[in-house]
Amino acid sequence: MDSLLPLSFLCFLALSISHHFRAASANPAAYPTIPGTNSVDCSIPGAAGGNPDHIPPRREVYDNGRIFDITHKYVPDMPVWDSKDGLGRHFLWLEKSIKNGSRSNNSAMKLGVHTGTHVDAPSHFYDNYLDAGFDVDSLDIEVLNGYALLVDVPRDTNITAEVMRSLSIPHGVRRVLFRTLNTDRRLMFKKEFDTTYVGFMEDGAKWLVENTDIKLVGVDYLSAAAYEHSVQSHLVFLESREIILVEGLKLDDIPEGICTLNCLPLRLVGSEASPIRCILIR
Ligand SMILES: *[C@@H]1O[C@H](CO)[C@@H](O)[C@H](O)[C@H]1NC(C)=O
Ligand SMILES: *[C@@H]1O[C@H](CO)[C@@H](O)[C@H](O)[C@H]1NC(C)=O
Ligand SMILES: *[C@@H]1O[C@H](CO)[C@@H](O)[C@H](O)[C@H]1NC(C)=O
Repeated sequence: MDSLLPLSFLCFLALSISHHFRAASANPAAYPTIPGTNSVDCSIPGAAGGNPDHIPPRREVYDNGRIFDITHKYVPDMPVWDSKDGLGRHFLWLEKSIKNGSRSNNSAMKLGVHTGTHVDAPSHFYDNYLDAGFDVDSLDIEVLNGYALLVDVPRDTNITAEVMRSLSIPHGVRRVLFRTLNTDRRLMFKKEFDTTYVGFMEDGAKWLVENTDIKLVGVDYLSAAAYEHSVQSHLVFLESREIILVEGLKLDDIPEGICTLNCLPLRLVGSEASPIRCILIR
């Protein structure tokens, strides 16, 4: 237990916040379902037990709506920072294959560590932290796992100090997932990188650091910082080495309020980021 507030109060508060923004931004179809779910477009016929009719399950939600996968799939059309072309198909290849006479299939991959749903370490924007070893393996697993609040950011703005104040996130809340216009615009499903995504402005990041207990900031596009404040906002967040940024989360169709967040990065020693698998449990 790490929350200083009773859960029931937080739930009430989260509900009031979400009610407030539903009323304000009110698009009931704001979170469309995910294309490709339960369809065959990404499946590998024959992969399970050699039966070509057997379609492997690919889910976004498990256990009757209790567990949500909030990680994006690594697919060729996934957007990549500052690129028009997306991830492309060459990030993953079969080095040995059964079809070519090997006993097993063995794939290899080459991937930028900030690709898709990923986490930033303090060394991302501080060279002295890189030299000192504050890599992704030094991140606190406790911060990456525990109660988290999912909030809806008003859809007509980047995250400024003003917006942060208006969200009224209570003291004691240590992990917050910010759902923004990026989710409505389905930006993580679009191949071409879009600089107009919503993120933290420098004053919003400062306000969070100075006025809240938030140690995990989750966002729904490739950067927690708005494009035009990319450097400044990262510097503000990462300076204390206490705040962890989880970026590129898939927050479609997740109920607002308190959930348990579980995020696990790879132990990439010497790296300032890592792909991360995150789930939410209700
Ligand atoms: C195994 O490799 C074959 C190519 O030899 C490929 O068609 C098949 O999809 C692979 N199976 C899996 C599960 O990756
Ligand atoms: C099998 O080997 C051939 C010849 O080396 C190559 O062209 C082909 O891409 C390989 N196929 C797979 C699935 O690895
Ligand atoms: C957020 O900021 C970006 C620039 O970083 C801008 O292009 C975009 O229009 C802003 N979005 C909103 C909703 O104000």
